[in-house]
Amino acid sequence: MTESAPSFQGQSNPAVVIIFGASGDLTQRKLIPALYTLYAEGRLGEQFAVVGVARSELGAGKSKGGAEGFRQHLREMALKNARIDDRAGAKWNSFAEHLHYCQGEYDAGETYQRLAELLSELDTRFDTVGNRLFYLSTPPQLYPVIVEQLGKAGLQKSRGFARIIVEKPFGRDLDSAQDLNRRVHKVFDEGQVYRIDHYLGKETVQNILAFRFANAIWEPLWNRNYVDHVQITASETVGVEGRAGYYESAGVLRDVFQNHLLQLLTLTCMEPPAAFNAKFLRDEKVKVLQAVRRLAPQDIASSTVRGQYRTYRDEPGVKKGSTTATFGAVCLHVDNWRWQGVPFYLRSGKLLPAKVTEITVQFKDVPHQLFPREPGADAKGRNTGAPHANFLSLCIQPDEGVHLRIEAKMPGQGMRMRSVEMEFDFGDAFGKAALPDAYERLLLDALAGDASLFARADEIEQSWQIIDPVIAGWEQGTAPVAGEWQAITAPALEFYEQGTWGPLGADQMLARGGRHWRLGCYREPKPTEERAETDPEQTDL
Ligand code: BG6
Repeated sequence: MTESAPSFQGQSNPAVVIIFGASGDLTQRKLIPALYTLYAEGRLGEQFAVVGVARSELGAGKSKGGAEGFRQHLREMALKNARIDDRAGAKWNSFAEHLHYCQGEYDAGETYQRLAELLSELDTRFDTVGNRLFYLSTPPQLYPVIVEQLGKAGLQKSRGFARIIVEKPFGRDLDSAQDLNRRVHKVFDEGQVYRIDHYLGKETVQNILAFRFANAIWEPLWNRNYVDHVQITASETVGVEGRAGYYESAGVLRDVFQNHLLQLLTLTCMEPPAAFNAKFLRDEKVKVLQAVRRLAPQDIASSTVRGQYRTYRDEPGVKKGSTTATFGAVCLHVDNWRWQGVPFYLRSGKLLPAKVTEITVQFKDVPHQLFPREPGADAKGRNTGAPHANFLSLCIQPDEGVHLRIEAKMPGQGMRMRSVEMEFDFGDAFGKAALPDAYERLLLDALAGDASLFARADEIEQSWQIIDPVIAGWEQGTAPVAGEWQAITAPALEFYEQGTWGPLGADQMLARGGRHWRLGCYREPKPTEERAETDPEQTDL
């Protein structure tokens, strides 16, 4: 099975996309809107069909349980969430003709027989040449049974291609991820498996590669000689929003760290691949994960911080006295020649002041201060006219772009410095509409057989190896020491108020190294416009 194919540029391959978990939130909010947008833009052509598989009898009246019910169930959200502006649904009816439904139990062989019959019918009707793209979007505990049943029904083989996309979370620790990989590999070859992390489908995340490897000027600086530390922030303003059932057993480490944040870390740290294809790209990412130092038991308390928003325990579905973390901050090191000694601070949390995802590369200060630090600088050294070390912000969202903070001489007598910004904005450069949704890109890539932006089995397992010790420390207060599980000192769960940047411990962790959190792409709400103009350092948090 080939690992990669050239990235998709034009119209996609004919195929039937089969979504398991079709009555769920992801199908409504993301998958169907993405497919509808692609259809409306002519990227799918007419040789495609979608089959939703779920237990529910969707729809009402006569249409219940059939294709019509499925279409009714999807229409409103598809029109609302599609990237194209089509509130009137001009293309909906013709798109909806391609939507079909197979209602049934996931563990019943009979469901898969009916599915196989429907797929043959659709092949004939839409000329989809036997190509199938399965999409697992059910609760993760159902993945093994669905894969097994697909195998029993022989649906992993086809006269065209048969591929399977597996939604996150892929396992809940190393053991379960390895077990799931084994079960998947019993039915599908690795080359057929696409483990999705929607962050990799974001244009700004892919732009990390372009920024680093299509420009020669960063490479000499991109290492321990010039970089003091790196921060990766993924903050959200929302809480668990009715997902407590899932979130209670996931927490911030499984929900965001093991996947999205570690993916951002690998792209920031990796060596340039020899060529831009799925194998070489993922080889380099795996090398980074292998080089990430596993936190030793004695480091869990000093290198990690866990928090919970004050009202979390009042959320419906949250256990009384729950200790699930809704905020995390973790300091990691990458033990290789490029990054030795450079701390990587990762943080993420819910109910924080802003939705921001950003990678901040803090460069070292100048080796010799030509321009004197002025007395009276505030504790954080902010905006006093004194020079500051440069930093670069790769802004993933919502302010998509790149900011470089540099020092400039303020006009007038003397040599007073002020921090100013050089800025690249995706919207300004390419127009806002040019940014496709992550799921559009990833669905097209999977249809094209390009796995570059999907996680490989070994990548997933490496990332769990990094996160597992933190999970064990936080959840059980234990760690493996010389092969035995022993009690360790875990960081206390700190409560934080909504609209703050999380627990104090996260600030203290950086302060111990003489550092503080900062964001280049986010402006704190300012009392007056005047202040905004005179205080460019206000993003120190
Ligand atoms: C998901 C998490 O993977 O990513 C959610 O399960 C989180 O909890 C979401 O809200 C964030 O994604 P984005 O694209 O909005 O940053």
